[in-house]
Amino acid sequence: TEGMNVQDIAKLIHREPAEIIKKLFMMGVMVNQNQSLDKDTIELLAVDYGIKPEEKVEEDISDLDKYFEKEAANTSYQENRSPVVTIMGHVDHGKTTLLDKLRHTSVTEGEAGGITQAIGAYQVHTNNRSITFLDTPGHAAFTDMRARGADVTDIIVLVVAADDGVMPQTVEAINHAKAAKAPIIVAVNKVDKPNANPNHVMEQLTQYGLIPEDWGGDTIFVQISAKFGKNLDELLEMILLEADVLELKANPKQKGAGTVIEARLDKGKGAVASLLVQQGTLRTGDPIVVGNTFGRVRVMTNDRGRRIKAAKPSMPVEITGLNDVPESADKFIVFDDEKTARAAGEERAQQAVLKQRQQTKHVTLDNLFETM
Ligand code: GTP
Ligand code: MG
Repeated sequence: TEGMNVQDIAKLIHREPAEIIKKLFMMGVMVNQNQSLDKDTIELLAVDYGIKPEEKVEEDISDLDKYFEKEAANTSYQENRSPVVTIMGHVDHGKTTLLDKLRHTSVTEGEAGGITQAIGAYQVHTNNRSITFLDTPGHAAFTDMRARGADVTDIIVLVVAADDGVMPQTVEAINHAKAAKAPIIVAVNKVDKPNANPNHVMEQLTQYGLIPEDWGGDTIFVQISAKFGKNLDELLEMILLEADVLELKANPKQKGAGTVIEARLDKGKGAVASLLVQQGTLRTGDPIVVGNTFGRVRVMTNDRGRRIKAAKPSMPVEITGLNDVPESADKFIVFDDEKTARAAGEERAQQAVLKQRQQTKHVTLDNLFETM
């Protein structure tokens, strides 16, 4: 069988071929880029790069999802956490207006500059409690996240304009919410308009099983005007009430874990990722594996662009310090030490590359050696 050459290996472990050639040269092995390497040489390299070929990197580490579930199931200690809310609804029914208004009313004078920061999520503080709003650009992002097993939303606020009623995307949002098993709070918006007919909206929604409490159902309806800020306090109160029913809890005492909301490459900062912490506490300096990449949390900022040192469950943060740009809906986990994080990150990156190249499921460095 054909072995791997320097270039293949360089790609696999995210190194320059020249670096590998130099390293091998130092070990007394002379090779060129396209020369295939024997098993012993590859093992030498693996050891040098901290990849243990004979004893597999723990399964828990290579399978982030499994690790995540295990950590999440650790119920030894639990604290209440803030609800994570997504706002959905038909085009022009007022989602952005509502998000903006909520954000502005929550931001105090001195902080006003911070709100330009767009990290894909932010927290609104009310009565000493917080609510995390995911600023997803429409249903597509929500569906993408769900498709990738990232059900990060606890509650959906369905915005329906009282002058327009139930429209196709309203129905779509209801279906998304049902599939995600997330409770819906209906915000009947634009009640300030002269032609607003909130009762008609309520009647229409009964067809979809959303029946107001006054009518014997169990769906919370709030009549609001996002534009004029009417009844927004009540909406926040209802979200917190629903959160109480859901008994949302997490253990902030374990290692941080959560989901990538979005990520990008910044010219100055390098890879920047917006993360939602879902379990544990994320701290600056933490060695971390994020999707198929890894690193150390260098700078962490909150939704106001302020530097912070620690983030607890339900907090959205932005971090730098990753080796590569992860994808939204990727999971992240804090590791004990940088070496293990690197090994796990590299193994995941390598698995992703191999998966793509060979369409084989679950190829590890181990069975790669076996096939050689
Ligand atoms: P898309 O992002 O395009 O799906 O729309 P959206 O749901 O984010 O709606 P957006 O917030 O952009 O609002 C659409 C229009 O409705 C804007 O002109 C808003 O000013 C107006 N609008 C939103 N809320 C209210 C409200 O409570 N009352 C009135 N009168 N107008 C509103
Ligand atoms: Mg909008």
